[in-house]
Amino acid sequence: MKVIVIMAGGTGERFWPLSRFTKPKQLLTLTGSGQSLLEEAVERSMAIVPPANIFIATSSHLQKAIQDAELGIPAENVIAEPCRRNTAGCLIYATATILARTNLSPEELTMGVLTADQRIPDTEPFVNTIGNAMDVAEKNDALITVGIQPVRPETGYGYIEVAANAKSLGDDKAYPLFSVASFKEKPKADEAAKYIASGRFYWNSGMFFWRLSTFQNEFGHANPVMAETLEDLTDALMANDPDRAARIFDALPNISIDYALMEKAHNVMVVPGNFIWDDVGAWDALDRTFPRDNNGNVRVGDPVVIDCNDSIVYNACGQKKIAVGAVGLKDMVVVVGDDAVLVMPKNRAQDVRKIVISLRDRG
Ligand code: GDD
Ligand code: MG
Repeated sequence: MKVIVIMAGGTGERFWPLSRFTKPKQLLTLTGSGQSLLEEAVERSMAIVPPANIFIATSSHLQKAIQDAELGIPAENVIAEPCRRNTAGCLIYATATILARTNLSPEELTMGVLTADQRIPDTEPFVNTIGNAMDVAEKNDALITVGIQPVRPETGYGYIEVAANAKSLGDDKAYPLFSVASFKEKPKADEAAKYIASGRFYWNSGMFFWRLSTFQNEFGHANPVMAETLEDLTDALMANDPDRAARIFDALPNISIDYALMEKAHNVMVVPGNFIWDDVGAWDALDRTFPRDNNGNVRVGDPVVIDCNDSIVYNACGQKKIAVGAVGLKDMVVVVGDDAVLVMPKNRAQDVRKIVISLRDRG
């Protein structure tokens, strides 16, 4: 059986002041489509597996809001981790839950892992590639990644290395498949620039495909303690003992799947993804996701923009009507929310997180 797990428990702090604890990035409309990032992710998944086989993994404080959002999947498929343990914890919890709920063995279950923070405007090439990646994962004892051709030395992504002149391992010419030489999560800028120059690296799209037995085995090599936690957690959930499950889960480290598993895994393969793809990671991503005016500005919520260039001016006031105006800006971001305002140069978009931390410290 094939299932899809959409990871949707991130905090999305870099989209403050729009993203908040109870309404993080994945529940916001950030691509100009009118749908939330999570709605888009669910819709894409429905073209690959039936709704009953789609799971959303999230944090407990978001579970009800997601269940109430009428996304077209069963309410019990919105699963909540007992506490936040990053994407490694998320996938361990989802795996244990799915094993406990179905009567299938880990060999019989193939899982596709998707994220809730990506813009993929063309569904058809995406569905073809992902359908193929699922089939490859079902047939091979390997962790399957989807690689995106890199276009800038981005430090916020993982990089997938293939050998020079690597030959495709796939049977179908339409879908190349390469063995992965190494996986490097979030390199420094100079490393990322070297990777791009070498021509041997893909960006990691953040989507993964594997049989659950392969996931268990590879975790056993990469991180035996976490693999044991997966086993204990599965036992606790099978025994219908949520308190024991929560205690077991609590002991996991807060680490992403990229560091915990992918960087250390033995057998990784990559399917190149030939579709438009973007991680909607911070405010500057709107340059790529929204239409720009003749001066390169992104304007949302009808602000008055005079003599500005290459700036993002976002009036996000929902409850109150606030007029927003900007004059003479260059490469700036201005976001006006109902109860908060953000102003910064575009190249500081990664630092918005510092504001959130600072406000949290103030209490
Ligand atoms: N359920 C759950 N629990 N989901 C989580 C958690 C968690 O604790 N933490 C993050 N997520 C969700 C986010 O909501 C997002 O949809 C997805 O997992 C990925 O998390 P990010 O925090 O956005 O990861 P990233 O973008 O920094 O890096 C990953 O994705 C990149 C591509 O988008 C890595 O896989 C990189 O290697 C990759 O290039
Ligand atoms: Mg992301």
